Amino acid sequence: MDHFLYRDGELYAEDVPVADIAAAVGTPFYLYSTATLTRHYQLFDEALNGMEHMVCYAMKAASNQAILKTLADLGAGMDVVSGGEYARAKAAGVPGDRIVFSGVGKTRPEIKAALEGGIRQFNVESEPELAVISEVAASLGKIAPITIRVNPDVDAKTHAKIATGKSENKFGIPISKARAVYAEAASLPGIDVIGIDVHIGSQLTELDPYELAYQKVAELTEQLRADGHNIRRLDLGGGLGIPYTRTNQAPPLPSDYGALIKRTVGHLGCEIEIEPGRLIAGNAGILVSRVIYVKQGEGRQFLILDGAMNDLIRPAMYDAHHDIVPILEPAPGVEHQPYDVVGPVCESGDTFAKNRMMPPLRAGDLVAFRSAGAYGAVMASEYNTRPLVPEVLAKGDQFAVIRARPDFDEIINRDTIPPWL
Ligand code: LLP
Repeated sequence: MDHFLYRDGELYAEDVPVADIAAAVGTPFYLYSTATLTRHYQLFDEALNGMEHMVCYAMKAASNQAILKTLADLGAGMDVVSGGEYARAKAAGVPGDRIVFSGVGKTRPEIKAALEGGIRQFNVESEPELAVISEVAASLGKIAPITIRVNPDVDAKTHAKIATGKSENKFGIPISKARAVYAEAASLPGIDVIGIDVHIGSQLTELDPYELAYQKVAELTEQLRADGHNIRRLDLGGGLGIPYTRTNQAPPLPSDYGALIKRTVGHLGCEIEIEPGRLIAGNAGILVSRVIYVKQGEGRQFLILDGAMNDLIRPAMYDAHHDIVPILEPAPGVEHQPYDVVGPVCESGDTFAKNRMMPPLRAGDLVAFRSAGAYGAVMASEYNTRPLVPEVLAKGDQFAVIRARPDFDEIINRDTIPPWL
């Protein structure tokens, strides 16, 4: 469910007509709904009711500080994967003890900054990383709280580029080696072993892979406790999928997922952390774009938009489907036509959809890409020297630009010409 609905024949973001925002901000732009972000966070929070827990939003999905602050004010923690994300979370006012640091390649400076600024835990992905965290912590006279990310060798049944829980993936430590690595961790001076971490992939549309993975984590918890480790926190990752179309079967709900967590690991008495990104932000954001031209090709017509692959890379990168809807509600019964929906970037990969059935559209019309709130703006680039796409946040009848469109000078002046030229 989201808060982008037609009202009186036009699309609204909560109580604001999207066309009004387009007139004020220009296109293309990302538009988020506070009410949808809030609702999705609360669904997870409620799903874990009755267990000590923290929902650590995977801010890689959408990391604008206004989004982070909206969620942090509700009590969310953050899952970060770089020094930049850590600094951004802190800048948005998230306290260090609500920030979890994930990622396979944490550098010494990143580890140091997190230890100095405060950290809830590091999710450790390898033995060399464990040694470096211990060393950096000891040099600062600190003890780093850690979990070890185990790779349960489970098929997440999702797109190959976003599956992470099989042994062929670069993530985590094979679960078969876990006891040895925990023993090593316990012997290191700068390390406090507090729990186990697992994350098997993104856009999961079934619960079975979670069930398998969490059962393995439950078994491991008991083994590690028997080995003498004080396992008191389980970070169960993110990955719950969202509906990208209005017609397909909806993925499981956060409440089903919460029930599964209780069933598989609830008896262990551990504090539970989860790291959802997409389900919180995905359907809380749209990308608004304008039709520049309708071009008749041979046997097809191209809808050329002012938004492009640099603004929303998911279709080009993962063949991802995004519903594209006109801002003016189509009259009931209007005949749809096939369009190849493309952007102005100079490569054929700049195609959002082929043969997409849509109501008739003309130059100047506004359209919205739905489900674009997660992995949209954060993956945007300035390819073709197209300004980084702005972001807007709606709340009730208000809206605010939360990242402004840079002008050409700002972009161009970032380059420096060496003295010999
Ligand atoms: N935790 C870890 C350790 C992760 O690597 C990820 C996502 C998450 C949590 C959040 O997963 P989510 O709940 O958002 O599914 N760019 C791709 C998705 C990449 C996901 C990477 N890791 C896309 O556009 O589909």
